[in-house]
Amino acid sequence: MKALVLSGGMGLRLRPFSHSRPKQLIPLANKPVLVHVIEELRAMDVTDIGIVVGDRPEKIADLLGDGSELGVRLTYIPQEAPCGLAHCVAIARDFLADDDFVMYLGDNVLTSGVADIAEEFRNNRPAAELVVHKVADPRAFGVAEVDAEGRVLRLVEKPEHPVSDLAVVGVYFFTPAIHEAVAAIEASARGELEITDAIQWLVTQGAEVTARTYSGFWKDAGRVEDVLACNRELLDRLKPSVCGEVDADSELIGAVVVEEGARVVRSRIIGPAIVGAGALVEDSSVGPHTAAGRDCLLSGVDVSDTIVLEGASVRDVGPVRASVIGREASVSRSAAPEGPHQLIVGDHSRIEVAA
Ligand code: G1P
Repeated sequence: MKALVLSGGMGLRLRPFSHSRPKQLIPLANKPVLVHVIEELRAMDVTDIGIVVGDRPEKIADLLGDGSELGVRLTYIPQEAPCGLAHCVAIARDFLADDDFVMYLGDNVLTSGVADIAEEFRNNRPAAELVVHKVADPRAFGVAEVDAEGRVLRLVEKPEHPVSDLAVVGVYFFTPAIHEAVAAIEASARGELEITDAIQWLVTQGAEVTARTYSGFWKDAGRVEDVLACNRELLDRLKPSVCGEVDADSELIGAVVVEEGARVVRSRIIGPAIVGAGALVEDSSVGPHTAAGRDCLLSGVDVSDTIVLEGASVRDVGPVRASVIGREASVSRSAAPEGPHQLIVGDHSRIEVAA
């Protein structure tokens, strides 16, 4: 089985972070989403991976290269414009050839994995096997109507009045039967070739389309709130390890990772939390649920439930919560404590100051 990872799209909901790199590279627990996806594919024994890339493909290639460091073989497939998920399957036709494949949306995070569903697909080989997840409000997703045996009866993309509470997760298993379906459908009202329509076409033709319920944690890391939720969830699985330096005046509580070259000075780190390689944490309280990126500086602060990206600094400000601080960004106390805020804020940023 091959894999097709979709890593195009504009990432508008993840601005400002998607201004400087594809949204699939935002780090969760200090590891880009795409790396989590590739590790998940490896856990399914899938190593021949095509990756559909949109604008700024070089950012993805710089990070992942040919995939050998992650134990996989990557083929890059450029998509000129985001024309839909089924369009991605069409442009990947040469790469996919006549093999079965798993299509994995590069912003989907599933912490419990779907290796068991992959195994079942390999054994039974229905034309398509979907992964579905019960959600309270499925209107933002593809929604599946499924019978008692797990056969899909109907699929609707982002319905106003959902027929069930089963949202379609961004992991799909296909036999080559999907190619005929992709060729048969037309663009949707939003102008995209929808994979949902292609799968519905298979259902209408009488092909076997099944769905299996995944009940672990799932989110598409599309908005900042989702990114923080994924970060928390992945940090909850952290295995503690200390490679960097922690001085005698510091305390590590719970699952804490201090990466190589990081320094923790007169601080308290409350796990789950990571201090990235080369970072300096001094006179601070960090965590829980905080990932401090490579080479960042936290000084005189109390930070929790937060992602601090590479090279950013946060110094001498009040408590920081539920925040994402961009790369090389600087947050500090103004020279005149009673004075006005000075804000030099990038496009599409969002700031909430305490009084
Ligand atoms: C896509 C699919 C949708 C699916 C979702 C999962 O939606 O079209 O059926 O439920 O991914 O993340 P999109 O995120 O592209 O709007």
